[in-house]
Parts: sequence; structure tokens; C-alpha cells
Amino acid sequence: MLEKARQLFMNSFGCAEGVRYFFAPGRVNLLGEHTDYNGGRVMPCALDLGIYGAFAPRTDGTIGLASADFESGKAFRFRTAELPEDLGGTWTAYALGSWLSLRDRLQDEPEGQTEAARNGRRVEAALSALSGGFDMAIASDLPTGAGLSSSAALEVLTVTALCGLFGIELSKKDIALTSQRAENVYAKVPCGIMDQFASANGIRDHALYLDTSSLEFEAIPLELGDAEIVLTDSRVKHSLGSSEYPKRRRECEESAALIKREMERLGEKPAETLCSLSSTEFDRLSCCIKDPGARRRARHAVRDNERCRLGAEALKRGDLKAFGELISASHVSLRDDFEVSCPELDLLAETAWNVPGVYGSRITGGGFGGCTVSIVKKSSEELFKSKVSGAYRDAFGIDCVFYTALPSDGARELFI
Ligand code: GLA
Repeated sequence: MLEKARQLFMNSFGCAEGVRYFFAPGRVNLLGEHTDYNGGRVMPCALDLGIYGAFAPRTDGTIGLASADFESGKAFRFRTAELPEDLGGTWTAYALGSWLSLRDRLQDEPEGQTEAARNGRRVEAALSALSGGFDMAIASDLPTGAGLSSSAALEVLTVTALCGLFGIELSKKDIALTSQRAENVYAKVPCGIMDQFASANGIRDHALYLDTSSLEFEAIPLELGDAEIVLTDSRVKHSLGSSEYPKRRRECEESAALIKREMERLGEKPAETLCSLSSTEFDRLSCCIKDPGARRRARHAVRDNERCRLGAEALKRGDLKAFGELISASHVSLRDDFEVSCPELDLLAETAWNVPGVYGSRITGGGFGGCTVSIVKKSSEELFKSKVSGAYRDAFGIDCVFYTALPSDGARELFI
């Protein structure tokens, strides 16, 4: 992939001096879904699949972008001073949005002091270097639209590379936040922080047990013994997902506001987010959410947050049985309460549950298509694959694709 990116760079932008190489991974989330915008916990790990990029700085105020995976590697050129208000919905929007988000971040630094300045560079110098533009050619082995966060990987890749090229020192946490802002503000997707955080902070052989309200995380070793993490790509992506995600988010915020008001009415200290409530507290207060659908969805967030906490404990004591049961229970909750599943994902998960040697299986990511994640005994892997792919083909006429997830390090520069 790196060689592919290098070749594309040479073909698109010529033999530029100072080409550097970077990588940012996709992620799989093991537990805690749709909790990250409710102040809850998540448990993603970065994958060994991701996006590789060749980058070089420019000084003429233009940005050149080429991707081996889109439009046959066609190169695009943009003027940094004339970027359109609406970046559109294609892959270039994520790269340009990341550049804009990093620029905004530098401009917003109080008194012009960024970590870059602390590092011996004035923020003005960093900003002016950034305005010079850059060229970027990418190649990916991360499937797009499979719910493995290819857009987050592209944002994190771009921000990481730009920081590297222009000597801007951002912590991994800030790289994640700058990348998330690119997605929220410029790609106009109101996502939470999980995907960008995982892509930036991933640690090999570990899951990141992240508290999204504080951005504190604990790296939990993934010692799965005789088991492994298998991703099954349904190869469907229902367009509903893009309109339903913001709806779910809004609905959860409205439910949180109702509960807050109810707690104030009762003279209790109000909870700021859904996930700061325990299940017991939620059950006691939830009658203030009159709409039964909204109540169910809020319940999912509260319970999946608890499942994530219990899952972290199970993982730490090596109890894969309990961990797997929580994973499968999360699917049921995403299907029945949060309503982000679809027949294809249900069939993949439900077939997996019935294969001996499968600890658990569920949707991973936003839902409405993409992948399931399953914890499978290595000795059952072949059986799992044949049962799941057979049932899926029979029901939908689609060949699903399997990936063994290798929890990996986050975004980084590659030296060749
Ligand atoms: C998408 C979003 C994340 C998160 C998940 C659901 O992947 O980008 O922020 O909300 O959905 O857990």
C-alpha cells in the first residue's frame, strides 16, 4: 500500500523533494455503541488496516490530492485561499476539512501560543507554512463504507501528516479533536470522538477503554487466548444511516434534557449526560420521556455504557464468556432499543450466536450496514466462516467478507 501511495504521488505530483510517509488506521469498536455523544464509555481498538499517504509541503498556496481508491487516482488541485464554502461529500472534503480544521485550531490558540510555539516555532510561522499547501497521495486497505471509520482514518492521517510536515506539535488527543472537528464542521457529520480517538491513539494488542466525557482512557491488554476478533463485512450500507445518525443524536440530547429537568424538579443534582446515569437511576426517572421510542433509545445508551464498564472488567479478568455475552446483548439492544440494525446485520450476528465456539457477536460502529464484530475461538474459525457466509448468501445473495482484526498502533510516520 505504501508503495502504491508512493507511485501515485510520483505520477500525480512529480518527484517532489521532502516526500514523507504516514499511516492512520481504521477502528473496530468492541463495546459501547452510540455512547460517545452521550458522555459515555467506548472500547475501540485501532486496526492494522488503514490509509497510507505520501505527503510533501508546497509553497504556492495549493493543495494537490490523489487517491488510488477513487476516480482511478485522478489528481485534484485546490487553492488554499479559495476553498469552497461547501466541500461536497466526496473523499476530498475530509482531507480539505482536516487542513481547514488544523488552520482554525492554530488561529484560535490564545495569544498565538500553540504547542508548536512552545516547540520553538512561532504560530505565525506554522500558519504561514500551512497556507503554502501540500500534496498528498493515498492508498488504502481499509474498506470504505464498512463501518470501520475510513473517514476518521483519512482525517487523522491528514492532520498527523500536516503536523509532521510543518513542525506543529499536537498531542494525540488534540489530533483526534482536530480531526473530529473536520468531520463535524466541514464534512457536516455530527459524529462523536470515538473513531478519531481510536485512529490517533491506538495501542498494539490493546483495546482503548475511553471515557468520552473526560477523554481519559485505559489501555486494556487484549489477551484473548484461544480466540480472536473477526470482522464480517455485510457489504451493505443503507443510506438511511446518514440521516438517522443525527436524528438519534438529537433525540438522545432531548432525552438527557428532559431527565435533567426532572431531576431539578425533584431537587436532585441533575445529570449532564445520559451516560452519567446508572440503569437504576434511568429506570426511576425515564417516565419523563413521554415518547416510547425516544425512551428506548435513551435506555440503550445508558445500558450500553454499563455493558462497556462490565466488559472492561470481564476482559481484565480474562472472562471471555462474560465479555462475549455483553457483546451479543449489545447487539440486541442496538437492534430492539436503539434501532440501528438492519436485516443483514441481524442475520450475521444471529447466525454467529449459534455457532459453537463463538463468544459473542454484534454490530460495530454506527449501524445500518457495515460490519459485525465477533469473538471466535480459533479452532471454530472455519466453521464460523462457512456457517455465516452460507446463511448470508442464502438469505441475501451477497458474499460477506471476513477480516481478522489485529489491534494495532495509532497514526504514525512511516520510514522507508
Ligand atoms: C459512528 C460515529 C462515532 C460513534 C459510532 C456509534 O462511528 O462516528 O462517533 O457515535 O458511530 O457508536
